[in-house]
Order: sequence, then structure tokens, then C-alpha cells
Amino acid sequence: MNGKQSLRFNIAMATPTLCFLLLVLFVSGAGAQQIKYSNISLGSSLSPATYSSWPSPSGIYAFGFYQLGQGYEVGVFLSGIQQRTIVWTAHRDDPPVPENTTLLLTTDGRLVLNSADGGETSIADPIESAFSASVTDSGNFLLRNPSGDIIWESFNNPTDTLLPGQRLSAGQELFSSISATNPSTGIFRLKMQHDGNLIQYPVQTPDTAPYSYFTSWTDGRGDNVSLNFDQDGHLYLLNTTGFNIRNITTGGYPLEDSLYRFTIGSDGLLRLYSYDLKQNNSWSVRWSSTNDKCDPKGLCGFNGFCDLDNQEAECRCLPGFDLVQRGNWTAGCGRNFTADDCKSEQDGIITGNYVMESVDSMQWEDDPYSVLELANKEACEKACLEDCNCEAALFTAGKCSKQRLPLRYGRIASNGPTSALIKVGAPSTDENGPTPREKTKEVRMDILIVSMLLACFGIILLALSGIIIHRNRLWEYRRIRSKVENCGFGELMAPRCFTLAELKTVTDNFKEELGRGAFGTVYKGMIWGSDKVVAVKRLDKYLAEGEKEFRTEVEVIGRTHHRNLVRLLGYCVDGPHRLLVYEYMSNGSLAGVLFSREKQPPPWNERMGIAQDIARGIHYLHEECESQIIHCDIKPQNILMDKGAKISDFGLAKLMGPDQTKTFTGIRGTRGYVAPEWHQKQPITAKADVYSFGVMLLEIICCRKNVDWNLPEKEAILEEWARDCFENGEVQKLVGDEVVDKRELESAVKIGLWCIVDDPTLRPSVKKVLLMLEGSLDVPIPLPLQPFL
Ligand SMILES: *[C@@H]1O[C@H](CO)[C@@H](O)[C@H](O)[C@H]1NC(C)=O
Ligand SMILES: *[C@@H]1O[C@H](CO)[C@@H](O)[C@H](O)[C@H]1NC(C)=O
Ligand SMILES: *[C@@H]1O[C@H](CO)[C@@H](O)[C@H](O)[C@H]1NC(C)=O
Ligand SMILES: *[C@@H]1O[C@H](CO)[C@@H](O)[C@H](O)[C@H]1NC(C)=O
Ligand SMILES: *[C@@H]1O[C@H](CO)[C@@H](O)[C@H](O)[C@H]1NC(C)=O
Ligand SMILES: *[C@@H]1O[C@H](CO)[C@@H](O)[C@H](O)[C@H]1NC(C)=O
Ligand SMILES: *[C@@H]1O[C@H](CO)[C@@H](O)[C@H](O)[C@H]1NC(C)=O
Ligand SMILES: *[C@@H]1O[C@H](CO)[C@@H](O)[C@H](O)[C@H]1NC(C)=O
Repeated sequence: MNGKQSLRFNIAMATPTLCFLLLVLFVSGAGAQQIKYSNISLGSSLSPATYSSWPSPSGIYAFGFYQLGQGYEVGVFLSGIQQRTIVWTAHRDDPPVPENTTLLLTTDGRLVLNSADGGETSIADPIESAFSASVTDSGNFLLRNPSGDIIWESFNNPTDTLLPGQRLSAGQELFSSISATNPSTGIFRLKMQHDGNLIQYPVQTPDTAPYSYFTSWTDGRGDNVSLNFDQDGHLYLLNTTGFNIRNITTGGYPLEDSLYRFTIGSDGLLRLYSYDLKQNNSWSVRWSSTNDKCDPKGLCGFNGFCDLDNQEAECRCLPGFDLVQRGNWTAGCGRNFTADDCKSEQDGIITGNYVMESVDSMQWEDDPYSVLELANKEACEKACLEDCNCEAALFTAGKCSKQRLPLRYGRIASNGPTSALIKVGAPSTDENGPTPREKTKEVRMDILIVSMLLACFGIILLALSGIIIHRNRLWEYRRIRSKVENCGFGELMAPRCFTLAELKTVTDNFKEELGRGAFGTVYKGMIWGSDKVVAVKRLDKYLAEGEKEFRTEVEVIGRTHHRNLVRLLGYCVDGPHRLLVYEYMSNGSLAGVLFSREKQPPPWNERMGIAQDIARGIHYLHEECESQIIHCDIKPQNILMDKGAKISDFGLAKLMGPDQTKTFTGIRGTRGYVAPEWHQKQPITAKADVYSFGVMLLEIICCRKNVDWNLPEKEAILEEWARDCFENGEVQKLVGDEVVDKRELESAVKIGLWCIVDDPTLRPSVKKVLLMLEGSLDVPIPLPLQPFL
């Protein structure tokens, strides 16, 4: 009922407008020649230099080229008014085309843009060939088939604007433009959702409530709700059966002599504009979605925040941050100092060169990785300073929410006593003159004196106790030192030198092959007399020069001794032959354990134990040895299973090639586990191992290979699938039927995803990984919006 009524109403109301438009046309006198274009026939063409557009019958709208900077875009625009207004643009994200381009409705019914050098771009993509095209007086550009049916229309492919008569159907979206002068896709969207809600979000976010900043509150009102726009400026939602379920604007605006458009602005606000043809000849705002210009989420980019200044949104960077790109808030803010690596030590926390800066009444995306109940702001500051992962915190009503960068959707909001605390680099102490920071000036003199006295007292006390304790600690100090030196010395553990003949006997002339790796073939052997089973690896492409270097390296490898590393027992240098003798691992490799079709993979707890074992081994290689060893080829095939998991083949990257600290020329490691910096010829650091570990951790979680084309396409690449599942809150899918504690599973997935971020400096150290796996360090969210290659 309601729908029909409003339709009749529209037609009745539209008539005077049309009459008026025809009048405008008649008066302007430009019509006679242009009317023939109201039905555009096949073979017609446009070019920016000559006939640049096809006007609508009344001449108020036109379709064709419009100028943008030095070039031209193709679109629909209001050509009959003084202030040319673009309402639709084809291929809005493509750069403008030069003047020697032509737009052609080809004789075989395609609408294409031909560049001077013969390139062809399709403007519309109907399923059948067009027979004619036309531009209507409501601003719609249509293609029709021979029987006159519409096969494509610009109204059905909206950009940032709706016009009266146009409808936004369920599933469709409007996207803002970058700016008033740049029609490319900007950073906000308006979506007519299938759940009945009309919602605004920033671009590249899931359609979920935390990201929305405007909603019609009509969810659950049918799966086919549409946004409709009448000639009098009335915008409303119709449900499947044609009932008006919500008025967005009240409508009933003057019809005579007015044009309307509904646009999502580059600032994220929705506005209904009217254009009074008779009077002041400019667009005026009839309605807007909000008065608070800081509402649109993401306006100020990462680590920026929005503050209202006299009703206008003003973007600023958080303390300690600067704009990444001058004049471009979309790119956000970055730290204006270099963040040190984590300073947390097992035996006490060093807060490093950081202080906390505070901003009052601040809000940002509430996505903490940890929430603490704390009494006051100072305790919250302290908690953040002492946590390596914490980069900022929000303190509200006894709750301290710790977060990692980047911080999104920051804004000043005067509701509620919130303090934002941001970790910033402390001014270096050797700086001359006063620090520029205003906060320090606020420190009161009396507090200063008291603290100085306390400090002096403290130093004296410390000195005294130091002297007393020194003697007692000497013994322990020696013990720790000798433990560290185990890594370097200890003749007893040095690998033994074998002759080739000896190893031939040990392996029964290389009879039983255990496996083949990147560096050589492995054979099973038995040392006579001791009944000790060993694995003998025959290296086949030894690169490093000379026998002496080989011996030196082998000594280094032989001296690394850890529960989670496969022991090197001996070696052999004989002419061109190079062999290594390892302890034998009875249970094969982790690859066999995880990917075997015959055997059930180990249960969750056991798998997490394996992951921790491996992390411990890598941590030892990276941080506890006399000279750091980067493995370069961490993968399940190189993890051998005995009572626990042990890493094999460590040190071989160094043995097989030049100095690790230099840039490698060739890629080492195994496809799929290789960090992106290998491909970019960047120096390889320990973080490359962290990447490989991350990939493997996901495999351990899911008991599948990182790439498996036997699976459905969206699951084939594990890291993408894991990320999808994580972002959609469906981590359970990753383990199938297995019953796993959701929080534990989520943490493990987060650690994995964090390890595989592209930027090596953003990956956690393996030490952090280990602490997180063990549960003694909170797991932050993985960095969002990582570009995927
Ligand atoms: C078309 O115009 C562009 C820019 O003005 C120019 O670079 C290009 O050479 C021209 N192409 C031809 C074939 O004239
Ligand atoms: C334009 O084409 C439409 C549909 O084919 C037709 O109804 C209309 O009469 C045509 N108008 C003119 C002026 O030829
Ligand atoms: C549409 O809205 C009307 C009025 O609220 C309601 O009676 C009807 O059931 C709705 N239709 C659907 C499909 O939800
Ligand atoms: C949705 O609504 C539109 C117009 O109201 C109608 O043409 C279309 O058939 C509807 N689709 C479904 C699935 O109900
Ligand atoms: C919407 O506004 C119209 C008048 O423009 C009014 O008749 C109608 O009742 C309103 N509908 C709702 C759902 O508010
Ligand atoms: C244009 O005129 C209308 C009606 O007279 C008025 O409401 C509007 O504010 C004016 N706009 C401007 C920009 O002067
Ligand atoms: C970083 O920004 C803060 C203000 O937010 C400023 O006090 C500090 O001097 C800046 N540091 C550098 C190195 O520019
Ligand atoms: C601003 O930065 C964003 C994100 O880095 C980029 O996509 C956009 O092109 C930049 N805009 C301008 C005008 O440079």
C-alpha cells in the first residue's frame, strides 16, 4: 500500500520539476542539437577535444568526459548548472586519461574507452551486447538491448552519490571519494546490509559493530531492505514487502526548482544536498548524518586522533608521533623515535628509555590484549612501562587496558574520565638545556627536592649492601659464568674426528638411508663397541673454502649443547668428502608426526609442548651462544623427535656459505618457510628464523602443511586461512573436531600470525615468543592490515 502510494506521489511531484528543467533547456537554447543524443546509437563516439559528452534530454545531466587536472575522467555530471557536480565516475580509481582518448559505443554493442595507442578499456560490463544507450533526466546512464530492456545502468553501480529515483539495494555500498577534487575511492563506506541495517564503516573493515559509526538501527527487518530516495529529498528504508520501516530524512522539501543529491563525503559524513536553481545557485546541506565531525572512524589514520575545534574535525598525532606523510592523514602517524627492542629480562624488568605521556578524555578502538584492575592512573602507567608489549594504555574507572600499536579511531570525547597513556621515548640524558616537553615543567619543586634526597639515600644504601652482598654472590656469579662458557669451551664435548673408512664401517658402507635434506643424505649407523646408534650426514655441496674453516665451524656447532638441539658427535674431512655424525633420533621428524596419514597426530597439549621445545632451541641458538647462530632453514623436516623435539641442521647455513651477517646472494631455506626479506635482498637477521617458526607453529596448531592444494581454495594457503579464521573469530575451524581451550588456541594462532608479519622488525624475538607460548607474557593482537602478497 505504502509503496504504491509513494510511487504515485513521486510521479506527481516529479512532473513540475521536469517541466522546469525543460524550461531551463529551452531558455539556455543549447537543446536543439543535443536532443538527438537522448537515444545514443551504436557507432557513436565522444572525445574530450570535440564532442565530449552526451546530455540528457533536458540537458541537466550529461554522460561523458569531464576534466580532472590535466586529464579527463568518464562519468555522469550535472552539466546544466553553474557549479558542475560529478555524481558518478567510471573506473574511479584509474588515473585520468589524456585528451587523445575516445569513448566509443562500438557497432558490436560494447562501451569502451580507446587510448591513442590502441589500448581498450571497457566502461560497462553488461551480460549481453548493447543496442542503444541513453542518459536520463534523473542522471542515470543506461544501456539497452534491442528489445528496449535495460541491461546496465549507472544507478546500479553507484560510487559516492545517490540521486532521486536511485535505490541502494541490499548488499550494495557507496564509497566516499578521496577529496572533492579526486573521485578515487576514499576511506569511508555506506552499506545496505542484508540484515536490514544501513551502516557506515571505514573501508577495509569487517561488517561488524565495533567498526560502525552510523547505523539506521534496523537490523533483523528482513534480508532485502533497500534505501530509497524520492524526488522531494525523502530518504527511507523499504523492507521486502514494500513497507517503509525507517525514515532517514523527512523529505517534503520544496520540489520546484530544486535538485537533490545524497552523498557520502570524503570526511565520512552522509549529507543530503539541495540545489536551488532559481536563487542562490549553490548546493546547501539539508540533512547530515551527524553533527560531530569526529564520528567517522579512521578519519585521522593510525596513531592519530580527532579533536573538535569549533565544530570542525582537527586531526593530531599522539604524543611522540609525527605524521608519516605531510598533509595526508590517511597515512597516519608514526613514532618520532626509534623504539628499542624489548628490555624485559627474566631476572627483573628494565623499563628502558621510556616515559608515559598522558592525554585526557581520549578514546580509541577498544582492543586491548590485557585488562588489569588497577587503582589509579599511576599504577596503569607503571604496568605499561614494565610490559614490553604494552605501547599504550587506557585508564578508565579502575580498569587499565593495555594495547599495542597501531592505535585506531582515536578521538577526544568528553564523556567519562578516561586517560590515555602513551609510551614515548624518554629525552636522552646527555641533552643540554631544558627538555621541550611541557609535562616536565609541571613537576613541582617540592617533589623534586624530596625525590633527590631519597635518591641520594638510596644510592648510599645500595653501595653499602653491594659491598656486603658481593662476597656471598661471588660463588654464584662464577657458577653462572661457567654455565655461559659451556657454550664456548669444554673439551669433553668437542666432536670427534672420524676417518672416512671408520664411517664406512659405522654405516655399513652407507647402507641404510634415513633421509635426504637440502645439504646431503643421512644414513643410519652404529658405533662399534658402544652400541650407540648415530645418524651420519654426507654433505654433497660444500661451499665454504678449505679444511681449516670447516673444522672451525664444526667445532662451534659441536660446542652448542642444548636439550632441544640434536647433538653433533663427530665429523670427517677426507679429501672432497665432508661428513657429520649426529645422535640418532628414534621417532623421525616432526613432519612425519604432523602430516602422517597413518598415525593420529599428538594431542593439543603435546603439540604445544613441541612448539615450546623448538622455541627454546632457537632461543639458545639466537641468544645464548657465544656467537649467534641463525638457522635459516627451520621447518618440520628439520625438527627431529625423540623424547622431546630437537632442532637439527643448525649451523649448516653458515657452514655451507659465506658469513651470515652479510647479505646472502642466494636464497637459503625452504619455500613456504622463507621470510620475505630473503626475496628482497635485505640482510638476514634472527627474525628470519622467527618467520619460519611462525609458519611452522601454524602447521603444528592445524596439523597440516602450510600449502595444500588438496584442500578447498580458501583453505589451501595456511597463513591466509588462519588469518581469515582469526579475523572472523572462527579459530576453532583450524583444529576441526579437536577440543581445545578457545583462549589457548587463539593465543597460539595470534603468536603464529605475529611471527609472520612482513616487516622483520615488527616480529617478536624468539624469546618473546617463548614467553608467550609458556603463558608468562600476554599475547597482543597481531598487527592489523598487514599487506598480503
Ligand atoms: C596521447 O597523449 C599523451 C598525453 O598527452 C601522449 O603522451 C601520447 O603520446 C599521445 N599518444 C598519441 C598516440 O598521440
Ligand atoms: C529511445 O529509446 C527508447 C527505448 O528503446 C524508446 O522508447 C524511445 O522512444 C526512444 N526515444 C527516441 C527519442 O528515439
Ligand atoms: C515489513 O514491514 C511490515 C511493517 O513493519 C511488516 O508487517 C512485514 O512483516 C515486514 N516484512 C518483512 C518481510 O519483514
Ligand atoms: C528485493 O526487493 C526488490 C525490490 O524491492 C525486488 O525487486 C527483489 O525481487 C527482492 N528480492 C528478494 C529476494 O526478495
Ligand atoms: C516517514 O515519514 C513519512 C512522511 O514523510 C510519514 O508519513 C511516515 O509515517 C514515516 N514513517 C516512519 C516509519 O517513520
Ligand atoms: C540558498 O537559499 C536557501 C533558500 O532560500 C537557503 O535555505 C540556503 O541557506 C541558501 N544557501 C546558501 C549557501 O546561501
Ligand atoms: C617527538 O614528539 C614529541 C611531542 O609529541 C616531542 O616532544 C619530541 O621532542 C619529539 N622527538 C623527536 C625526536 O622529534
Ligand atoms: C595518503 O596515504 C594513503 C595511505 O598511505 C595513500 O593510499 C594515499 O594515496 C595518500 N594520499 C595522498 C594524497 O598522497
